[in-house]
Amino acid sequence: MVNARPLPSTGAVTGVVEALSFLRDADFAQRRFERYGNVYQTRLLGQSMVFVRGGAAINDLLAQPDATEGWWPESVRQLLGNRSLANRNGSDHKARRRVVGQLFSAAALRRYSPAIVGLVDDLAGELQQSTGTIALVDRMRRFAFAVIATVVLGLDEEARDALFTDFEIWTRALFSVPLAIPGSPFARALAARTRLLGRLQQVLEQARQSAAAGLPLSGGLDLLSGGLDEAGLPLTDDDLVEQLLLLLFAGYETTASSLSCLMLAVLQEPDLLPWLQDELNGLSWPPVAEQATPRLNAVVLEVMRLNPPVGGFFRRTTRSVVLEGVEVPAGCVVQVALAASNRYRSTAASADIGDDSGDDLERFRPQRHLAADDGLTLLPFGGGERVCLGKALAELEIRLMAVGLLKQVRFSLEPDQDLGLQLIPSPSPRSGLLVTAQPIQSSSRMEPPGDPA
Ligand code: HEM
Repeated sequence: MVNARPLPSTGAVTGVVEALSFLRDADFAQRRFERYGNVYQTRLLGQSMVFVRGGAAINDLLAQPDATEGWWPESVRQLLGNRSLANRNGSDHKARRRVVGQLFSAAALRRYSPAIVGLVDDLAGELQQSTGTIALVDRMRRFAFAVIATVVLGLDEEARDALFTDFEIWTRALFSVPLAIPGSPFARALAARTRLLGRLQQVLEQARQSAAAGLPLSGGLDLLSGGLDEAGLPLTDDDLVEQLLLLLFAGYETTASSLSCLMLAVLQEPDLLPWLQDELNGLSWPPVAEQATPRLNAVVLEVMRLNPPVGGFFRRTTRSVVLEGVEVPAGCVVQVALAASNRYRSTAASADIGDDSGDDLERFRPQRHLAADDGLTLLPFGGGERVCLGKALAELEIRLMAVGLLKQVRFSLEPDQDLGLQLIPSPSPRSGLLVTAQPIQSSSRMEPPGDPA
């Protein structure tokens, strides 16, 4: 490689001390970027890992899909299963993205919209009637699970509750040590995985029977029928249920986290709600058509910038690549450190926009996203060939929840609670976000005619 610099390394040998710092120190990656630059290598519990941050290095990585493949830690790999598209590459991966992507097309989202609006209205109604303290995080989690399990997969309430118990056992072990010692969280998660796949198989079967009998179908599973693999053959059921399990995993915790952090920001930032309210007042509920919401979009992006639901995503190099002038050899696991990247701007970009202190990036300031170029590379949904498949659904859910709830309910924060964030698996206020709720008089709501968009 001409002129490429060698990969800086922390020199960690076993990676035990590094792994402990990684778990304890929220600024683990940040500190090392400052010392070693935007591309460096370290070792975490025996696993060599290259961390990258900033637009230049990340764009270089994503521009070379032929030199990289997907990668997940061993625990995630085993619990998702080797048929899961998250663990596949090349045409295998592309074909499954095409099949599963049908659940998130524009037409599919139009179909889900009224049901999501219904869930928001149910929650708003419940909150309006409430007289005591409510843990808002809990409500956001239930909502996010209902969207993927009921609205997309079409589960009824009973099936959803049964699935939820096993799903929580399974999720707890996702980032654990993958040793199936009897009684360990990982062994219990593997058993839960078998039961989950069995239940998802029944869901698929029921959807088929309803379709054959001409009965109305809830959810979107009919959209998957006729989905073909890379050889042009229908996907087997064993294959399909692993994709459905992936959707539950990928779509739940992430969306619940962004909703909880969004509500926290609305309650914590004194100037935010009045600024947002100007825009909300002009919107109808339920929405009648695609309404532009630049301020809300900026708020959601700023929430995800400071508290990304997915702190980083991975690739493994299959060939040597050069990232921002640094050579990364073949066979390296690369982590795109989103959390650290989101608080970083190159010196040149900072000079261009007149911020030479860098402090501005520590502040919650959604208005920055309304400027033509804020000098940031923000990829909360990842990028390139593996960009989040559920991005459009997540954005729809968040928009509908924010508009529907903030137009109907006024919240007050309860005093004496810990509003600090727990970071694993995704950021969420430790206290559960305790609030009281009051109805907003309906005269200030706009009741539109026609169907929800
Ligand atoms: C705020 C919510 C969400 C965030 C921040 C998020 C973020 C991400 C990120 C960072 C990736 C990795 C991308 C990469 O490797 O380049 C990803 C992958 C994925 N996400 Fe999401 N996601 C969200 C919601 C959802 C939802 C609602 C679904 C579906 C129900 C979903 C389905 C997926 C799938 C299937 C993948 C794997 C794609 C592949 O490997 O090709 N996500 N997501």
